[in-house]
Amino acid sequence: KLRKKMVAGNWKMNGSVELVNQMANAVKAAELDNVDVVVFPPFPLLSNAINTGLNVGSQTVSHEEAGAFTGEVDASLVYELGCKYTLVGHSERRSLYGESDSLIAKKFARAQSSQLIPILCVGETEQEREQDLTESVISKQLDAVIDDLGVVSLDKSVIAYEPVWAIGTGKTATPEQAQQVHQFIRTKIAALDADVAQSLIILYGGSVNESSSELLFAQPDIDGGLVGGASLKPDSFVSICQSAQ
Ligand code: G3H
Repeated sequence: KLRKKMVAGNWKMNGSVELVNQMANAVKAAELDNVDVVVFPPFPLLSNAINTGLNVGSQTVSHEEAGAFTGEVDASLVYELGCKYTLVGHSERRSLYGESDSLIAKKFARAQSSQLIPILCVGETEQEREQDLTESVISKQLDAVIDDLGVVSLDKSVIAYEPVWAIGTGKTATPEQAQQVHQFIRTKIAALDADVAQSLIILYGGSVNESSSELLFAQPDIDGGLVGGASLKPDSFVSICQSAQ
């Protein structure tokens, strides 16, 4: 089965109503039919983005359903609003907000039970790579979900491989480095379920820009990108989407 390419733009804590409109116009004008384009603006901009017709996701959701959880956001409300996706376990959530593998597995489950497609982010730090721990770190991050929810839960999900040392640093993984890890992820999952592995979308993230995207996306196991900084510039973001077509 041929996997459709996907480009996701994670705005992090950036953006404005104006940027939503500019982005929607740029994406529409580019007629990107052969790539799934999704934007992840901050919560207050989700409605605006949905109303433009863009595909939209949230940057996180709560693992809880409802109740006394001040400041948290329920996945089913995000779905009802019109979002299709949510990021889960982005490295900034892990490192700055202390999200553990087990919490991330709960968020993943909550997203799926709310009919959102979780994009599970995994990746090693620079130190872990230097110590040759990349594969074991990523295995552990994936196993947190697989052990709890079964490998079939990955069927309605997306994986994003984001080496922490490449996020916001301008230091992109080479296409070969990224492909190696993507292949590792797909092979690991194939050992449990070949069909799930074959159809699983695996995105690369970490300083993707319009000069690096084409070669990255041409790798056999890289199905698109999760773009941070460059997703705030409509022209750059559209170029990156075009290179995925
Ligand atoms: O979610 C996106 C990633 O964290 C990548 O961010 O493209 O600014 O390096 P970046």
